[in-house]
Amino acid sequence: MKFATKTIHAGQPSEPETGSLIAPIFQTSTYEQDGPGQDKGYSYSRTNNPTRERLETVLAELESAKYAAAYSSGLAAENAILQAYLRPGDEIIIPLDVYGGTYRILNRVFLPIGVVVRQIDTGNLKAVEAATNSKTRIIWIESPTNPRLLITDIEAVGKIAHAHAAVMVVDNTFATPVFQRPFELGADLVVHSVTKYLAGHSDVVQGAVLANDQAIFEPVKYLQNATGGIPSPFDCWLTLRGLKTLELRMQRHEENAEAIANALNGHPLVRRVYYPGLATHPGHEIARKQMSGFGGMVSFELAGTQEEVVAFASSRRYFALAESLGGVKSLICHPASMTHASIPAEARAELGLSDMLLRLSPGCENHEDLVEDLLGGLAEVERARTARKTVAALG
Ligand SMILES: Cc1ncc(COP(=O)(O)O)c(C=O)c1O
Repeated sequence: MKFATKTIHAGQPSEPETGSLIAPIFQTSTYEQDGPGQDKGYSYSRTNNPTRERLETVLAELESAKYAAAYSSGLAAENAILQAYLRPGDEIIIPLDVYGGTYRILNRVFLPIGVVVRQIDTGNLKAVEAATNSKTRIIWIESPTNPRLLITDIEAVGKIAHAHAAVMVVDNTFATPVFQRPFELGADLVVHSVTKYLAGHSDVVQGAVLANDQAIFEPVKYLQNATGGIPSPFDCWLTLRGLKTLELRMQRHEENAEAIANALNGHPLVRRVYYPGLATHPGHEIARKQMSGFGGMVSFELAGTQEEVVAFASSRRYFALAESLGGVKSLICHPASMTHASIPAEARAELGLSDMLLRLSPGCENHEDLVEDLLGGLAEVERARTARKTVAALG
């Protein structure tokens, strides 16, 4: 079965009792038993639920995985992995540009209980090799990263992880299985913020962990029931609905991102564009090798002042100023004061996360409208500058 067919058919037969083409939402907390301990495979919805099970089946199929567990958010999914694998004294390697929430949970929840967090440039294989030792339990990869879309050679890092008996986790939120299949590159666990492209409509918060090896999956799956961070049946149903257009949406997101990256690249008010599809992007060649598309996200640094960045981001017609990404409606975000605000300013500066950086999540609108909105915003910045100069010259 090809990818787009899986999104519509995998784990989603018509409902047998009524023929309902789309499976109902099993909005129930519990299940009637035939006799004590004699259930029909479901006893309580924290433990299992048919709607969640359908979602987990599709997610596993799409990632070429055998196992999937859905959680109430991407961070709940991350927490299940971290809690399952990290003990005091263990070490974890994370990328410089890792998602702010991943940085926060590690530094505020796991570091205080004795976990050593090594934040390095995972794009530099020598640095990964140097940071890995017998205590390294996890090498955590995000590629492309959030927000600068930096690329890591997943296959090469996987080899380093496995040579040290560490587990390689890949956060595949930005690429999605449409453009990148980490298990085919040696990942042991894949994590998603399903909230983003997989659900795809900015109306669900959800996460998932996927695996191919039962022994690696079991400790993470166990925590789904044991700690209870499960998604609601309704949210699972919404994601099942969203997934049916995943491939179509990703194609449009990518088309839009490419048009925007090309329009911004070289513009006098743009210092730098981050898009792995640009030949000038430092990770372009590796992205070409390990991805089948460059994804839907674009970030750029405005060559301007803090006030200009704020004014630009707050006044776009089609790009709502909001956290998150991956929905059909376009979003713009200022990572330094929004998604990455939990990273202290000095640490952001050290990591190279500029306060002038803006992250775009182009939706599924027409690319000409989106480009016009952004170029129009840059023209407004220019006009405001000229007006200020004129006022200053007049004294
Ligand atoms: C790359 C990445 N991973 C994980 C998360 C966390 O997911 P959630 O917000 O669903 O908890 C996010 C959220 O923005 C993200 O961008």
